Amino acid sequence: MSTTKHLIAPSVLAADFARLYDDVQMVNNSDADWFHIDIMDGVFVPNISFGFPVMQAIAKHAQKPLDVHLMIVDPDRYLQTCKDAGASVITVHFEACTHLHRTLSAIKELGCKAGVALNPHTPVSLLKDILEVLDLVCLMSVNPGFGGQKFIANTYTKIKDLREMAATVNPELLIEIDGGVGIGNAAALLEAGADVLVAGSSVFGAVDPTAAVRNLKQVEAG
Ligand code: DX5
Ligand code: ZN
Repeated sequence: MSTTKHLIAPSVLAADFARLYDDVQMVNNSDADWFHIDIMDGVFVPNISFGFPVMQAIAKHAQKPLDVHLMIVDPDRYLQTCKDAGASVITVHFEACTHLHRTLSAIKELGCKAGVALNPHTPVSLLKDILEVLDLVCLMSVNPGFGGQKFIANTYTKIKDLREMAATVNPELLIEIDGGVGIGNAAALLEAGADVLVAGSSVFGAVDPTAAVRNLKQVEAG
């Protein structure tokens, strides 16, 4: 298990798009570590969020790294664009990549951290032969495509299994949890071995989003 403090990545998907600058500043001035940026194509997932021009506009004002979650088919086509739009971490979906090793190598060649996301039905055991080249694994704890969904509880087992798998081959691996994360399950997720908590509606839907980030950052495993 990582000994450093966990990271908080507010998901901009839940921001007020008509007041995006204000919400970016909120994240800048909060205890958040990263911006989580959800790019969707309406094909890999049944929704379309925003694309790289909007991400670039966010990057212009963001004072923290952009953690980009590509929920798109054939992500190889967009890796350079994604990097140019300001990505620090690029995460592709396991289910969308035929040649995952090649895709991850391309992300690293761009100078970004390379992540892979798993849908709730995809077992962590499928990562066995790719684990050592990964910087991050994003475990989807909802079916991707929408914010505000209910957390799927088998995620806890997946975190523990993945942490165990990575212990010798890649102890620095970051395990990120995405979907339905809030103050009610943060401690248990950290206890299971999570390093990065993505939070959309539990942050931007809060009366005081800055306090919601602070509370998530201050949670101790348990
Ligand atoms: C879902 C996205 C998530 C989403 C999380 O497809 O990947 O990042 O914004 O939203 P909440 O935290 O509301 O479940
Ligand atoms: Zn996401």
